[in-house]
Amino acid sequence: MHTTKLRVSTSQQQQQLDAAMDGAHRPAARRSKMRILLVVIATNLVSVYLFSGASLSLRLPASAPSIHLWDSSALLRDLNATRAALATARAEIAGLRAQCNTSSLLLESVLAGLGAVHGDKPAAEDFNGWPEEPTGELRFAIEPHRLPLGFSAKFGTDELYPGLGFACRNFQEEFAQYMTYNASGECPDDDAFALQLMLKGCEPLPRRRCRPRSPARYVEPAPLPGSLWTIPPDATVNWSPYTCKNYTCLVNRARARGGSYECKDCFDLAGKERRRWLTDNGGPGFSIDGVLASRRPGTVRVGLDIGGGTGTFAARMRERNVTVVTTTLDMDAPFSRFVASRGLVPLHLTLTQRLPFADGVLDIVHTMQLSNWVPGGVLEFALFDVYRVLRPGGVFWLDHFFCLGPQLNGTYVPILDRVGFRRLRWKASRKLDLGAERNEWYVSALLEKPMT
Ligand SMILES: *[C@@H]1O[C@H](CO)[C@@H](O)[C@H](O)[C@H]1NC(C)=O
Ligand SMILES: *[C@@H]1O[C@H](CO)[C@@H](O)[C@H](O)[C@H]1NC(C)=O
Ligand SMILES: *[C@@H]1O[C@H](CO)[C@@H](O)[C@H](O)[C@H]1NC(C)=O
Ligand SMILES: *[C@@H]1O[C@H](CO)[C@@H](O)[C@H](O)[C@H]1NC(C)=O
Ligand SMILES: *[C@@H]1O[C@H](CO)[C@@H](O)[C@H](O)[C@H]1NC(C)=O
Ligand SMILES: *[C@@H]1O[C@H](CO)[C@@H](O)[C@H](O)[C@H]1NC(C)=O
Repeated sequence: MHTTKLRVSTSQQQQQLDAAMDGAHRPAARRSKMRILLVVIATNLVSVYLFSGASLSLRLPASAPSIHLWDSSALLRDLNATRAALATARAEIAGLRAQCNTSSLLLESVLAGLGAVHGDKPAAEDFNGWPEEPTGELRFAIEPHRLPLGFSAKFGTDELYPGLGFACRNFQEEFAQYMTYNASGECPDDDAFALQLMLKGCEPLPRRRCRPRSPARYVEPAPLPGSLWTIPPDATVNWSPYTCKNYTCLVNRARARGGSYECKDCFDLAGKERRRWLTDNGGPGFSIDGVLASRRPGTVRVGLDIGGGTGTFAARMRERNVTVVTTTLDMDAPFSRFVASRGLVPLHLTLTQRLPFADGVLDIVHTMQLSNWVPGGVLEFALFDVYRVLRPGGVFWLDHFFCLGPQLNGTYVPILDRVGFRRLRWKASRKLDLGAERNEWYVSALLEKPMT
């Protein structure tokens, strides 16, 4: 009971303390904050004293048992009683220790706070969570900008903070390198470096005041609809970060190595890519036309393909007058520029980022990117986000979700059930060839966001 009380008062004091810390850097507020801090210390000392005193006087055994030497069973009873009293006393002492512990922790934080008020040693919070004080272009890119008078009510703040991934603070050294460039000049050739930061969770990256270099021999894209199936000329991208230096190389790599590459064959628009989603294979391979047929004609108009490789899903949907945005990551190849050159919309985004769409706006979301490599927490948030952006009656096409047999019913079905989709189609099948021995599965599902 005492501990509960202490906790309540502790959190109140912590709030006072936090309030005091917030104002600590404003000299005008200093004196009153100091007063609050001293009150906090005083109340703590009093509570330590009171709690110890109260417990000791209330809880110590009232009287020592008298010893009956002539009666062995009475003796045993007495022994038992003494033992019980001892145990109670021990528990009392442990409780008191815990209370002292809490109080001394609080005192420590109060003293640390006092130090900060006096400016003894700057706490890390002084840099808004950055390990070192941000300087130069980095500082300019992340610092808040004052709004004109009269806008604060509309924005709910009088300062505007630039968009920036919170995790960027964890990688300040690399982040500072990313923000080292000649303002108004040419950007460093650092696409791959920027992507590494994004993949670590430093997303979104801040904006920069520089111009990325254009390819030396840029060629305009082919006109629609031919562009949908045209491999762009080799000269249209800067190749420095990639092992394969042109599209010809990427196409040949897919042809030569097949399975070893993550997006196998996907640059080869004349090959397997051309046949994808055209026919229902009776298993987890659904066809686009089969999926569209599950909705009233013409009601699937806008959508998203998460991790859409070179954009072929969006290309096929465009041929059916559906506008699909394709999220890409330029890992190992310039997927974004390839998708764009086909006349489709690439969106450079990792799986951990909140989808940049308002609630309830998309008719369809498709993905082949999800599988059991995605950490469970990330997956669940991603699925809820898909649910969020879909309109009522919109469909989520989970395409070839890969996992192991026991994971399917043990982990992933429960997650999907939690999200709240309604199953329109569900096809789980054991992976053939090597996968069969390892109990590997593919699941494809057509899931509807309920109308209500
Ligand atoms: C002493 O306590 C134990 C259990 O705590 C009990 O089993 C035993 O009967 C007690 N002895 C007497 C004499 O009360
Ligand atoms: C006191 O706090 C420390 C660290 O905060 C903890 O390791 C220790 O177990 C606590 N002791 C008691 C008695 O609660
Ligand atoms: C800035 O520009 C100068 C001169 O053009 C160049 O030598 C230098 O490498 C550039 N610095 C960065 C960080 O790009
Ligand atoms: C494409 O790149 C490869 C190496 O990646 C090179 O051998 C080849 O000559 C290049 N082809 C063209 C047309 O630039
Ligand atoms: C797509 O829209 C165009 C122009 O409105 C129309 O001519 C064409 O038939 C439509 N295609 C499909 C597959 O609905
Ligand atoms: C999952 O559960 C369903 C029915 O509850 C069952 O038919 C199916 O075989 C299970 N799948 C796996 C891979 O264990």
